[in-house]
Amino acid sequence: MVKDNSLCDIGFIGLGVMGKNLTLNLADNGYKVACFDLDQAKVDAIIEQDNEERGEQAPRVVACRSYTELLSKLAQPRIIMLSVPAGEPVDHVCRHLINAGIGADDIIVDTGNSLWTDSLEREATYKGKFIFFSTAVSGGEVGARFGPSLMPSGDPYAWSRIANVLKDIAAKVDPKTGKPIESSTPGKPVKEGEPCATYIGPVGAGHYVKMVHNGIEYADMQLICEAYNVMREGLGLAPKAIAGIFRQWNQGLLNSYLMEISAEVLDMDDGETGQPLVDVILDRAGQKGTGLWTAVGALQVGSPAQTITQAVFARSISSLKSERVAASKVLKGPAPAAVSEQEKAAAIEALHDALYCSKMCAYAQGFQLMAMASKEQGWKLDFAGIAKIWRAGCIIRASFLQSITEAYEQTEDLANLLLAPYFAEQIAQYQGNWRRAIANATLMGIPCGGFSSALNYYDSYRSETLPANLLQGQRDYFGAHTYERTDKPQGKKFHTEWSQPGRPQVQVK
Ligand code: 6PG
Repeated sequence: MVKDNSLCDIGFIGLGVMGKNLTLNLADNGYKVACFDLDQAKVDAIIEQDNEERGEQAPRVVACRSYTELLSKLAQPRIIMLSVPAGEPVDHVCRHLINAGIGADDIIVDTGNSLWTDSLEREATYKGKFIFFSTAVSGGEVGARFGPSLMPSGDPYAWSRIANVLKDIAAKVDPKTGKPIESSTPGKPVKEGEPCATYIGPVGAGHYVKMVHNGIEYADMQLICEAYNVMREGLGLAPKAIAGIFRQWNQGLLNSYLMEISAEVLDMDDGETGQPLVDVILDRAGQKGTGLWTAVGALQVGSPAQTITQAVFARSISSLKSERVAASKVLKGPAPAAVSEQEKAAAIEALHDALYCSKMCAYAQGFQLMAMASKEQGWKLDFAGIAKIWRAGCIIRASFLQSITEAYEQTEDLANLLLAPYFAEQIAQYQGNWRRAIANATLMGIPCGGFSSALNYYDSYRSETLPANLLQGQRDYFGAHTYERTDKPQGKKFHTEWSQPGRPQVQVK
């Protein structure tokens, strides 16, 4: 914190939902913040909120009407945080700050959902003008206000200057239990516990990790939706009954923030019609793009993240609402069958296990993707550290992340999360019901692409042999693409003249 009271500790640009709440979080933690937004009404709104919340304290937030004014209000060397939409708006602000006279030793911290390759380019583009640092944030509105999970990456010198600020505003975890220490009171931040902010690596790494977090988030959400859909459409349960089941599940292995809020969504009635609100919400999913980036990233490094990718496709097919309505009148599925109460109970238990096993696979895919990208980029990501900062504050926070933390603490270079003794044992124990749940849904004609893609991942990963031998034969047949042989050293390539049976294979250099 600065000694000169007339100056501010931190500048904040972009006062949308996330920016406003991060600014108030900084203020709660004792930082004086100079803030600016192109929309002056947003600046006025935060000043008003600070006046309401600060009580007898001096103003903690200072309004600025221009980039130049913001720079003039900050102690040097400056720290300026940005929360503006990903893409061009980030560069727009950077250019304006250069024109306004930002210094080479000043740091700009991008907290938006930026594409990781943009962060890489920005560090290079702005070198010498200021230090570009990226800090991905997860936790939504409430997380930003009372403690998000932060994934900082970039220049280690910049990190040494801002580490304490980021650790102060981050969510905290009880180091003994691995459980979040909750706070939801303005002005009373959690000071004790382990902060959910750790240095991820060179610039780009933090936003990559956040991108994968969002990919896992997509999968996690889709899997919960599939369990709901089978209960609603196949077993005929009402939303409130499903909310009750989710609450029960939330007490056990499936404990997570997403499970908790899904129960709340299902429990809510619509103020207008009195119907369950979920029945009034149109079944067409939106997406801002981070799930798609994860899917593309997985395809680019050749990492089999099929449950994450499937979750993106599930949103795509949901958005074809009018086509689906038309197709539902033409394309036939199985006839509905009566389900006894006993069968219903068994089916619900099977769905629990399917959700649990699929979730393990979705996380395994996310960590496998990060491992492949880390190798390719030379980032040396610390997976126990990443699992740790996802235990609180972020959208995928779950008790389960403590088990992932422990798995990576026990074996740092774990090839796959599913190979950790705990997860291998869990999946072996619950897989019977996982398979049954998929079979039930399939026989009822209810889509469950998340569950089945996860099972596919599991069954493919644990298969000593896959039919890629035939595939290689096909490739060599029509395109002379060559193949390797099981009885010769790997890497040696062979080609067969398929039109001349009996001719020996040719070894190809
Ligand atoms: C978070 C969220 C946050 C946001 C995403 C997802 O971690 O706080 O992931 O980043 O909710 O933008 O949005 P879409 O579902 O619209 O892609």
